[in-house]
Amino acid sequence: MEREAALGLMRRAVDVGVNVWPEMAERHMEVPLDYFSDPATFAKEKALYERSPLALIASSEIANANDFVVRNAVGRSVLVTRDEDGRAHAYLNYCRHRGAEPAHGCGNARRFTCPYHGWVYDPKGALVGLPLRDRHDNLDLGNYGLVELPSEERHGFVWVVLQRDLPIDVAAHLGALDDEIGRLGCDKMRYYPSHEEARIDANWKAVAEGLLEGIHVPIVHAQTFNLNPQAANVDLAYYDGFGPHVRWGLGLFDHDGATQLRATPEAEWKPDEAIGNIWLLSPGLLLANELYGIIYATLTPGSHPGESFFRYGWLSPVSEAPAGMPSPEQLADRARRAVYEDLAVWEGCGRGLAKGQHSHELIGRNEKGLQLFHEGLARETGYTGLRYV
Ligand code: FES
Ligand SMILES: [Fe+2]
Repeated sequence: MEREAALGLMRRAVDVGVNVWPEMAERHMEVPLDYFSDPATFAKEKALYERSPLALIASSEIANANDFVVRNAVGRSVLVTRDEDGRAHAYLNYCRHRGAEPAHGCGNARRFTCPYHGWVYDPKGALVGLPLRDRHDNLDLGNYGLVELPSEERHGFVWVVLQRDLPIDVAAHLGALDDEIGRLGCDKMRYYPSHEEARIDANWKAVAEGLLEGIHVPIVHAQTFNLNPQAANVDLAYYDGFGPHVRWGLGLFDHDGATQLRATPEAEWKPDEAIGNIWLLSPGLLLANELYGIIYATLTPGSHPGESFFRYGWLSPVSEAPAGMPSPEQLADRARRAVYEDLAVWEGCGRGLAKGQHSHELIGRNEKGLQLFHEGLARETGYTGLRYV
């Protein structure tokens, strides 16, 4: 982030800290419970996922030629490769013979052999061989490559659109945040996975809500983040919406620290160290400052409204931690434990939102990040059920 923009956020964080009062929404929001289970709503949200660029993997997951990763992406198996020329590609991981999945897991491979009848593909998706070739001697193999999806490598991620004929433009998708996300430097970081994709019995929006507030942290993460459950400052944050994207953040200082900062010339402020930002980029990409690296997670809907998938990891600019800090592996592991703490309550929310008879959930004025998320998503899908009290 440019210094002037970062100073602007830090001024807001200092105000919040001095006043011990968060930036608030104007009213409480009521979200109908059926918003989390209605099939028509779910279909519109899946359509949004199908047309949006999704940051399926970090570029560093396929750092070298012939590296590959297979990802579940909104119910589709997608093979992401890097070819000999260094270009990333994404393919539907479905064999052109009768549909089996040629690639599995991740690794480095020059060839992907379908496990059913042995058709062989290369990292550019080309069908390069098959058993009993002489039975197919009139067949032009060039017509039977894996189906390539639109993809773009940008800001340290491989972004993919899941519909083969749609355009991809990540800069346009990120809009006003494109430069800010680029400056995070994820293209120079290495991915440390916390866990492979977890299946969650909850609507994806219920999970997204949990990524946009800190008020659960001292309660749910008392074991991992060692915070006092009585802490009064857990909601001391600032919030901004950018179209469908949300950014929120907080000062990494208490009231006394904020008061001291206010008395300090801004030229001496160090926003890189004094504030932390969290981005939830539409529809389900989480990036967040954490110590010296970046949290990188993807949230996608499952096969029905009550199911979602969450993949979580940590990006580090260094392999050795700065003095006195946990290592990248330790941070990825702490993130894994924290996510499993979240999973238990998210699945509770999933049941409550699906089976509760209280007509709507309530999102407080101090949960402005959630309100911005719901408002941004509703604009994308045409949903009109949000209410305010
Ligand atoms: S389905 Fe892949 S070789 Fe037959
Ligand atoms: Fe959490």
